[in-house]
Amino acid sequence: MRAGGTGLSRTDDYEAFCEGVRVLCSVDLSQYKRGQMERRIRSFARRKGSDGLTDYLAVLETERQELDDFLDRMTINVSQLWRNPEQWSLLGEAILPELAADSRSISAWSAGCSYGAEAYTLAALAREHVPRTRVTVKGTDIDRRMVERARGGRFDAEDARSAPPALLRRHFDEVDGGWQARRELVAMCRFEVGDLLHMTVAAGRLDLVLCRNTVIYFTDDVRNALHARLARALRPGGYLVIGSTERIHEPRGMGLTPTHPFVYRKS
Ligand SMILES: C[S@@+](CC[C@H](N)C(=O)[O-])C[C@H]1O[C@@H](n2cnc3c(N)ncnc32)[C@H](O)[C@@H]1O
Repeated sequence: MRAGGTGLSRTDDYEAFCEGVRVLCSVDLSQYKRGQMERRIRSFARRKGSDGLTDYLAVLETERQELDDFLDRMTINVSQLWRNPEQWSLLGEAILPELAADSRSISAWSAGCSYGAEAYTLAALAREHVPRTRVTVKGTDIDRRMVERARGGRFDAEDARSAPPALLRRHFDEVDGGWQARRELVAMCRFEVGDLLHMTVAAGRLDLVLCRNTVIYFTDDVRNALHARLARALRPGGYLVIGSTERIHEPRGMGLTPTHPFVYRKS
């Protein structure tokens, strides 16, 4: 099959497109599962009126807004406050108190934080369950616009659909039909742009890493290598929490012991 009169095969034009995007904005699409990613990119390019990926790459190279739209579409930012409430009950009632018993401070990382719902939920639970412990939450995401949004701590009503109403009201203010994280929560959270596949992470320093619903698009090898790096970032006794549809391949080889569904403790 030919792509848009370029003479490149479909395979080649996809690879060339990934390389072009990598040069443009350092996002390495070749690390994501190909089938799904390629289908989404081709259909998006078509809807944008481009005649194949070579043509579409030329548009991205010259129009910043198109590049922003493309990245917006490719990184799926779905999130919500208290997403998977059962995981948050466990974190609040068991894991945070255990970590607080070990140390006067807890350093947590929301890896692939999107617009910050996970980080603010953790901050609210920390105030609720371990109020005397100094808790800091770092959120990182590859999507700059999501990181900017996260810094504001503002959520709409839909984001709060799984949040326990009493906790929501205690830690967020209702503003214009949405929810604004209180100043105390904002002060606990810090957000940075970062590509999980390339950022360096100090070993053995963190107490808690949340990496949920972020690795599903990565190839298995990329996902396994990332989990191993996240495990290395934890101190002994620290916890890694993954999404409720995800798994860690050979956790014991990374020094991780499963303690609850989707929760691992570093030995
Ligand atoms: C579905 S959201 C998950 C948000 C949150 N963890 C949750 O579970 O609600 C996935 C996030 O991963 C981010 N992401 C995808 N690839 C990434 C990468 N290589 N480095 C950092 N973040 C990435 C996306 O931009 C997106 O915001």
